[in-house]
Amino acid sequence: MDKFVVQGGARLEGSIAVGGAKNSALPVMAACLLTSEPVLLRRIPRVRDIRTMQRLLVDIGARAEWSRGHLHVQAAEILSPEAPYELVKTMRASSLVLGPLVARAGRARVSLPGGCAIGARPINLHVAGLEQLGARIRQIHGYVEAEAPNGLRGAGIRFDRVTVTGTEDLIMAAVLAAGETVLENAAREPEVADLCQLLVRMGARIEGAGTPTIRIQGVERLHGAEHTIIPDRIEAGTFLIAGAITGGDLLVAGCDPEHLSALVAKLQQAGAEVLPEGPDALRVRTSARLRSADVETQEYPGFATDLQAQYMALMTQAEGIAIITETIFENRFMHALEMARMGANIRLEGRQAIVAGPRELTGAGVIASDLRASASLVLAALVARGETVIDRVYHIDRGYEKIEEKLAGVGARIRRVE
Ligand code: EPZ
Repeated sequence: MDKFVVQGGARLEGSIAVGGAKNSALPVMAACLLTSEPVLLRRIPRVRDIRTMQRLLVDIGARAEWSRGHLHVQAAEILSPEAPYELVKTMRASSLVLGPLVARAGRARVSLPGGCAIGARPINLHVAGLEQLGARIRQIHGYVEAEAPNGLRGAGIRFDRVTVTGTEDLIMAAVLAAGETVLENAAREPEVADLCQLLVRMGARIEGAGTPTIRIQGVERLHGAEHTIIPDRIEAGTFLIAGAITGGDLLVAGCDPEHLSALVAKLQQAGAEVLPEGPDALRVRTSARLRSADVETQEYPGFATDLQAQYMALMTQAEGIAIITETIFENRFMHALEMARMGANIRLEGRQAIVAGPRELTGAGVIASDLRASASLVLAALVARGETVIDRVYHIDRGYEKIEEKLAGVGARIRRVE
């Protein structure tokens, strides 16, 4: 298993490039199952979760190949409308094929994901929505089996709580359903809007993407299309925090500043200078000491849960007490315990982490528990005195493309060892 070895203390300076959004690429790849025609996808990041989704599409019967840096997907036929436990247990987002498979093939068999390092994360809302669209559902032997031999029917569906992949799954089911579907309390994340943009290019009729109410008029068939996915706002946010925590001067290039406004506001409140440089870059600089600023995670456009761990690393270096409240997932504080081993003063009380800073961190051996937790440990290591060895970096490889090379390119002393 690979590890990262980081020598702390380097200021990050220069320009660092953001790749395509993993959480946009995954639903967009699943959407390719909705048509027999070819779909060309640009800016798909080369990360492990994408390879897992590629494998899943191929197992289902699609072709999914890289050519000149782009991903070409064609699901001429659906041979096996299934997502087996072996894949779903390594990547929960595999359940994104449920909606498209029922819509296109009239049936699907998808493993239930089971628990996860950050919370229970059930998919009951995906399943209930599909039932409302007329699918017959059975849960048996750890699988969801869905059938709609005569096709799905449009319906009014109100989500009990906001779910990102749940919204995406049901949009993909509804685009081929007969009649109108109205999704209420839908997720407003930019990745949902990006998926809708591709679907519209494929011939779907969707209104209200990016708002809580999405209206879909079902069509009989979809056709091939080309699409460039949005930049990864979580990778960009991780780099902004890397610049701020090291007291550096970093240009985060190829991002969408609008998608980062909640984080940028917090960084400014904490005393970092963050300014746009053109339409698709942000520059972060920190000259004065950082100040604490409380954060509560929220659905988009609020502060992203996927940046909470990285922000906690930043707050260990800020003057004062910061209260970090996690409202999306019930167990997303594993990184706090590892940071405490590096010398951070963090107290956990239910859904809140109380961080008292600044504290000098010292290098230690630490273990990454999930994707964003690993990123936060890299950030803590960048400012720790001495050497930090981060184990289980396969977590980080799920969602960050060559993060060690990108960070080393702006001055970080980080290397991968096998
Ligand atoms: C997406 O997960 C992201 N994954 C996550 O990114 C992200 O943390 C999360 O949204 C929140 O922003 C992808 O886009 C592939 P949810 P998702 O359904 O869709 C509860 C990362 O690091 N819920 O919006 O699985 C659920 O337990 C990751 O890249 C139900 O109760 O999250 C959670 O508490 C990790 N029933 C809340 O809703 C359901 O049927 C929000 O989850 C569905 C969700």
